[in-house]
Amino acid sequence: MSTDVALLEVQNLSAGYGNKTVLHDVSFKVKPGQILALLGHNGCGKTTTLKNIIGMGERATGDMYLSGERIDKLKVSERISRGLRLLPEGRGIFATLTIGENLDVVADRNCRGPDNRFEVKDVLELFPALSGRLDTIAGSLSGGQQQMLALGLALLGSPRCILLDEPSIGLAPNLVERLFELVRDVCRSSQLGAVLVEQNVAASMKIADHVTILNNGAVVFDGSPEEARNSNFWHYF
Ligand SMILES: Nc1ncnc2c1ncn2[C@@H]1O[C@H](COP(=O)(O)OP(=O)(O)OP(=O)(O)O)[C@@H](O)[C@H]1O
Ligand SMILES: [Mg+2]
Repeated sequence: MSTDVALLEVQNLSAGYGNKTVLHDVSFKVKPGQILALLGHNGCGKTTTLKNIIGMGERATGDMYLSGERIDKLKVSERISRGLRLLPEGRGIFATLTIGENLDVVADRNCRGPDNRFEVKDVLELFPALSGRLDTIAGSLSGGQQQMLALGLALLGSPRCILLDEPSIGLAPNLVERLFELVRDVCRSSQLGAVLVEQNVAASMKIADHVTILNNGAVVFDGSPEEARNSNFWHYF
């Protein structure tokens, strides 16, 4: 796939809750292998953007494409089967199941067909810390280990674009660095795209290829990390 083709394209997404509009004409593109950092103050609409991309929005208009296919009318399960993944805020794991059960439950759903990019064995290779602890209850893991498991679950099957909602929350700085390096390496090696929502601006800027800044639900900056640092919007952070 040429790197000029957008993996994920969001065009003029407007969305909200009840009669309140929270997002106003949000547009951005993620290319294969690239990480887009979606930044902005609390309440500016970052989580709402990710929820709408995966199909959990209450009320939305606008067009969204995954590898050129229109996805905005598809159900959540159809978007997941086409390779979209969301790591929700606060760790997307089954806390009362073991690590092994977590992997099996998600693999049952996401690895049904042949030719999966990531089977359970591939995830365990990426995260050796999990492989020796398959019988450990996931909720008893440290925050960093839970986040590794959440990322591992998101990779099962054939993901194309992963949406990460503040994965660094509650993690020690060295773990944030390790997690982010893993995200970057997996994205590059498997040509996945990622939308990384973060309050940890410094850490996310280290791995971001592109930066989109939201303010009050609207895009106020869209460009390279270097352009972001030199922009008028950088004083936000
Ligand atoms: N379920 C909901 N019902 C009504 N309003 C909501 C709901 N979830 C979020 N909002 C409102 O939508 C706006 C955007 O919220 P959102 O959670 O998308 O922001 P965010 O950028 O992710 O913030 P944070 O950095 O605090 O996570 C806020 O004004 C928020 O109060
Ligand atoms: Mg949020």
